[in-house]
Amino acid sequence: MRIILADSYKEMSIEATKIVAGQIYLKPASVLGLATGSTPEGLYDNLVAVHKTIGLDFSQVTTFNLDEYIGMAPENPQSYHYFMHRHFFDQVNVRPENIHIPDGCAEDVPAACRAYDKLIQSKGGIDLQVLGIGRNAHIGFNEPDVKFEARTHKVRLDDETIQANARFFEEEEDVPRYAISMGIKTIMLARRVVLLASGREKAEAVRKAVCGSVSPAAPASILQLHPDATIIADRAAAAELPEDCLTGEE
Ligand code: F6R
Repeated sequence: MRIILADSYKEMSIEATKIVAGQIYLKPASVLGLATGSTPEGLYDNLVAVHKTIGLDFSQVTTFNLDEYIGMAPENPQSYHYFMHRHFFDQVNVRPENIHIPDGCAEDVPAACRAYDKLIQSKGGIDLQVLGIGRNAHIGFNEPDVKFEARTHKVRLDDETIQANARFFEEEEDVPRYAISMGIKTIMLARRVVLLASGREKAEAVRKAVCGSVSPAAPASILQLHPDATIIADRAAAAELPEDCLTGEE
């Protein structure tokens, strides 16, 4: 696992932008896995800027988002569909037919989950997966558990996640309790993974991800087994990493 230590949120976003923009430049028909939440907003702003200033071309890019709340219609401003269109898709030239986000309103959720994994496979798999990390070390909405849930599935959000995401809603009770999320194996099958982490409240999760034992109790720890995983953490998020983790020394 490679660790990039950034001085600030801004620098973290710039480092992530270099990786994503480089991926698209080198392989214009890349398949990207994308995350929502506060953390990647700077990355999306930068990618929009790179598109508008030097014409980074998304016309052949295919995207798959990690997750969506169950029961949330795409036009609901709190949905991840809405978030992605507002922050990214509506401002670059990704083709609408190449955008994929789990369907929170699917009538048959297990069938929709299976179809999502199949669709990813049929597009040749994910080249680069962007991740954030929860305070409880979740990735996607894979919450701490006794086992790793492999494939795209329905999840019940942890109380900690509901509290953390309440900032996007008027009342905590408005936060949906269920979501559809890519599974751990879906994420691990991506050829490259880049996880972004910013802020002191993520420091413990980052420590568990980088140097804790690999365990479903800290889902991000699975990335230690990924052949090409990079964590970009700002100083606050890296605050609990031991010195030897940062220098690579034994
Ligand atoms: C979002 C997602 C989540 C978030 C995580 C951090 O699509 O999959 O794992 O990345 O909850 O959220 P923020 O960035 O809002 O702290």
